[in-house]
Amino acid sequence: MNQEQSSAAAVEAACTTKYRTQSAVSRELHERAVRVMPGGNTRHSIVLAPYPIYVTSGKGCCVTDVEGEERIDFLNNFTSLILGHADRRVTAAVQQRAALGTAFTMPTEAQVELAELLVSRVSYIDQIRFCNSGSEAVMLAIKAARAFTGKHKIAKFEGAYHGIYDYAQVSDNATADDWGDLDSPASVIEAGAPPSQAADVVVMPWNNFDVCRKQIEANQDQLSAVLVDPLPLGIGLIAPKPGFLEMLREETFRRGILMIADQVLTFRLAYHGAMDQHGISPDLTALAKIIGGGFPVGAVAGSARVMSVFDHTGDIKVHHGGTFNANPVTMTAGLETMRQMTPAAYERLEAMGNYIRQQLARMLHDRRTPAQICGRGSLFLAHLTGQELIDFRALSGYSRSKPIYQDLNHEMLANGIVTSPRGIFGCISTPMAEAELDAFVEALHRSLDVLSY
Ligand SMILES: Cc1ncc(COP(=O)(O)O)c(C=O)c1O
Repeated sequence: MNQEQSSAAAVEAACTTKYRTQSAVSRELHERAVRVMPGGNTRHSIVLAPYPIYVTSGKGCCVTDVEGEERIDFLNNFTSLILGHADRRVTAAVQQRAALGTAFTMPTEAQVELAELLVSRVSYIDQIRFCNSGSEAVMLAIKAARAFTGKHKIAKFEGAYHGIYDYAQVSDNATADDWGDLDSPASVIEAGAPPSQAADVVVMPWNNFDVCRKQIEANQDQLSAVLVDPLPLGIGLIAPKPGFLEMLREETFRRGILMIADQVLTFRLAYHGAMDQHGISPDLTALAKIIGGGFPVGAVAGSARVMSVFDHTGDIKVHHGGTFNANPVTMTAGLETMRQMTPAAYERLEAMGNYIRQQLARMLHDRRTPAQICGRGSLFLAHLTGQELIDFRALSGYSRSKPIYQDLNHEMLANGIVTSPRGIFGCISTPMAEAELDAFVEALHRSLDVLSY
């Protein structure tokens, strides 16, 4: 069997009859894709075995696939489309902007307007710079922290995903085979990373006050920053224990270490962002996703003192170029989106989030399926376990013993719902209402029935 034949055989084996009959066109596209892209894919975070469903269009909270099948989209391009797809006002603004030119080597007013809007919403952000992805935003924040403090290490949490900058990737995919002792977790690096990187990243266990305090103290002379996402999806949206983020802020502040808040995903939780909900002011913040209104975006933001490391009129310490930084299409889409995200819009999303979390809990309780529903605001994640979940290790322990998520995802697709192949995760967009939330819960109920779970 050659490589192509064996990959086709693997697809066949992994494919339920139902999935196959509903997605023949996607399958053909995937077969073309694997010839020209490794794995047939250009984005690992959306891999779905045996092949993905290809999409043609989206409107509001629905997407239509290449077969003409319409589904409710609970992924929203991995949480970035807070207004759903093809919002009328964003589309009109973008069309108008595109007709005037899409990229220049001169700035446009839109970048000033979006910067002003974001600065006015978040009390601890005095200044901001735009880039093209959340990964870049995290990278720039880390570089800024190193330049500002003159120290080189960073600390981050085991299992937390912060994009694809080498240092931020450390231990985001650790396993029981390599993660070491809980008291001093190993820094697990990818094959593409230099070993020196492991030495420059301190890995800490989520929600573990003692180990975090010890690690921060032991490394204080080299630590430039603690990188923290206030509700990390990589750690299953397991909430920080009361006082945990506050402890990190206190420890970093008194030891001359910066706190970098990765709010790339969690900026969608509230009008002033997720950190504000905890009453915490980080020194630097990485933003992306919703602030681009559906276009590639990222931003690093923070206090004027720290952000001065980027200032070319002073003692510039971090060089920041980028051909498409603050391109006017993204800035226009982001501005229109963020203007629509008023406090009332966030409150409505929060109410819908509370509703679906309650409905999921009730349905799973009635089925006698042990479960915990994590998330807040417009994010939810149902873990099918009764075990206490406090950190990445607890999460990995249970999710590895539950390989049903892939099949569940196929069933959810068959029941008209787009959700994640790696868990029962969803995010809510503004075009949704109770009917869509009920549809999710009902689809999950039916899918679990089909799988006799
Ligand atoms: C918390 C967090 N940080 C950073 C990133 C990276 O953002 P991007 O995919 O725009 O590079 C992501 C992406 O999902 C994320 O969820």
